[in-house]
Amino acid sequence: MSALTAFRGQVLYTSVPEKFETFEKGYVIVEEGKVQTVVSTLSEDHKAAEIVDFGDKLLIPSFMDLHIHAPQYAYNGLGMDEELVGWLDRYAFPEEAKFSDPDYARKIYSRVVHDLWKYGSTRAVVFGSLHKEATRILLDLLIESGLGGFVGKVNMNRNSPGFLIETTEQSLADTEEIAREYANRSDMVKPCITPRFIPSCTLDLMEGLGDIAERYNLPVQTHLSEAVAEVEWSRQLHPEFEYDGAVYDHCGLFGQTPTIMAHCLFCPEDEIRIMAERGIFGVHCPYANLNVSGGMMPMRKLLDAGVPVGLGSDIAGGHVFSLSNVMSMAVCISKMVWHQSGKKYKPLTTPEAFYLGTKSGGSLFGKVGSFEPGYEFDALVIDDSELGDSGRSLEERLQRYIYTGDDRQIVERYVRGRKIREPEIVH
Ligand code: GUN
Ligand code: FE
Repeated sequence: MSALTAFRGQVLYTSVPEKFETFEKGYVIVEEGKVQTVVSTLSEDHKAAEIVDFGDKLLIPSFMDLHIHAPQYAYNGLGMDEELVGWLDRYAFPEEAKFSDPDYARKIYSRVVHDLWKYGSTRAVVFGSLHKEATRILLDLLIESGLGGFVGKVNMNRNSPGFLIETTEQSLADTEEIAREYANRSDMVKPCITPRFIPSCTLDLMEGLGDIAERYNLPVQTHLSEAVAEVEWSRQLHPEFEYDGAVYDHCGLFGQTPTIMAHCLFCPEDEIRIMAERGIFGVHCPYANLNVSGGMMPMRKLLDAGVPVGLGSDIAGGHVFSLSNVMSMAVCISKMVWHQSGKKYKPLTTPEAFYLGTKSGGSLFGKVGSFEPGYEFDALVIDDSELGDSGRSLEERLQRYIYTGDDRQIVERYVRGRKIREPEIVH
């Protein structure tokens, strides 16, 4: 490949939430994996570029899945008559226990990585299970694939079944071992500190995790305010703290390093303010909120407060891998929130939802998720020719893809300017 590549296609991306940038038969000029510029016609400067022409296909930034549970892949779609806590007990915990077996872990995790590729999520923030060896396997598979993201060994030392629980000492020792091994192994894949949620972790465990996060400068991911029963349980366990963010903060797990909080349905004003001040990410996982009857995330409230927000599949709480589907469902939910709030919280628009799933989520990983100059060229090529009528504008075509498309229209995936080949599934 020559130093410069000009990727030609029907180019769309969002640099701001309000609107799509569009270039009909435009060229994304990429040098050393990064976007140099996007132009409608090639200039003298780009004469030497190798041209990769995608014709009438859409060329868009790839998706950023900020919340997914890798060891829940195998039972995706099951247990949907349960609420959160019952669903964890009856489905999540027994399945996650199987990841004590490295062979099983390799089989399932190879499928998870394959499906991140398949659905166009080139970067992801991933929960593993509490098992150290299985987490290594997941980290290694993601590194080998060429995709990127954060991967966490889960911590859980209380209110968990006997077959899926660890001591505080073991939990911290295993977490630190992974941190030491992987903190500097790859610039695409980082280990992530991952207390499951407050009911699963004692304060001394979470304090130790905050210490590891700080010493190894690792991101933190966990769940926050996903269901009323969960929030009540947390308050019973910790009446000395006003809300869960205060518990995490006490332990050094609330914005001391990059922090990703899944759900954020019932956060009080103070918690939202601190999230905004510290740049703590909220992740909207609409399918999971619907499935476990959690409720509806007040996305607009968080956006108005200045909280950075992204989108997540939350497999297997959510059953839908495709972030394009998650985008459209986020818009649908925001309309229900608009009604419920007496029209206070405006619904999301389609470009806003796309922005959340690309540039906003991508900002966790550096300059990723847009085609502005200096952004890493993480991109998807979409063949939408079978989705409906012809003669539509580029915005309409992307909107239609977001509402009716999925993995079947994705024909190529790029990360840092490199085409990513299909990851192998281990049988
Ligand atoms: N809260 C604690 N654990 C989980 C989990 O595995 N999935 C979801 N959706 N919420 C959780
Ligand atoms: Fe989750």
